[in-house]
Amino acid sequence: MEKEKKILYSGMQATGTLTLGNYLGALKNWVGLCDEYECFYGVMDLHSLTVRQNPTEFRQNARKLYALYVAAGLDPEKNCVYYQSHVSAHAELGWILDCFTYMGELNRMTQFKDKAAKHADNINAGLYTYPVLMAADILLYQADVVPVGVDQKQHLEITRDIAERFNNLYGEVFTIPEPYIGKAGAKIMSLQEPTKKMSKSDENVNATIMLLDDRDTIIRKFKRAVTDSDTEVRYGEDKPGISNLMDIYACVTGKTHDEITAEFAGKGYGDFKLAVGEAVADELAPLQKRYEELIKDKAYIEHCIKENDDKARYFATKTLRKVQKKVGLTELIR
Ligand code: TRP
Repeated sequence: MEKEKKILYSGMQATGTLTLGNYLGALKNWVGLCDEYECFYGVMDLHSLTVRQNPTEFRQNARKLYALYVAAGLDPEKNCVYYQSHVSAHAELGWILDCFTYMGELNRMTQFKDKAAKHADNINAGLYTYPVLMAADILLYQADVVPVGVDQKQHLEITRDIAERFNNLYGEVFTIPEPYIGKAGAKIMSLQEPTKKMSKSDENVNATIMLLDDRDTIIRKFKRAVTDSDTEVRYGEDKPGISNLMDIYACVTGKTHDEITAEFAGKGYGDFKLAVGEAVADELAPLQKRYEELIKDKAYIEHCIKENDDKARYFATKTLRKVQKKVGLTELIR
């Protein structure tokens, strides 16, 4: 690894297909970061096990996520795009860090409380220690920066706390990661309830644009998007539906809110919604085409997975061995 580059780590869970929100809020902004950072992006399949998965669908979804990363522009020659479960050091460091994390800290995690409420029939220990595995992900690669959304901020905080606690006991083992503050990824809201985040698990299919939705579906969903009884394309807290559409349009066209307001002055919401739908469909078309090619090219994808798994394993194992030694586990006999 080139020493002068800082290290960046991120990933997404391997459940379901990605939404436009995942793309505009995260993935699209990751593309190009490899010029400045040594980037690692995981398919976080171990984290997905915290909710019950259908094995066949799960395996397909993980592969789909891998192909979407690459199709979106994460060049696997320049970014280490790999499977979390293929690098056993994640689980091993996760266990060690469990022993350096207090229940009191985990009890404060708002995502655990939300998920426990949502999956009341399956509040498993993995759901509880989820943030510790996430800390292991980040710390194994000595990441300097982690791009995360607001919902993951608390998990990055606990990662820093665990790392600092460990370093205080054993010396400078872990790099303390910072949140990556870059070009702000937009927070995309539901098209049906624009005060709620766009979510892949929304029961209302019209609320969410899936990355692999076809052109007609995308345009239809935007036509049905909830707005307000006004007619003005203007950004404001009193207009959550229109503001969300303006954010989306701004993200894909690069226009400012003022430019958008000017562009649609005197036109109705219908014209605006159609324009947003078409712009999004145009933006996603090349990604979808690349995805279709990739998902059929098993040999290429598997080559990329293998190369990057090996690379990830090399760096992760280095940190794990150091940690094992520090805590006093007996070294492997060779
Ligand atoms: N918890 C993250 C999410 O749901 C996914 C994730 C797992 C992650 N490990 C990570 C993100 C490490 C950044 C760094 O979005």
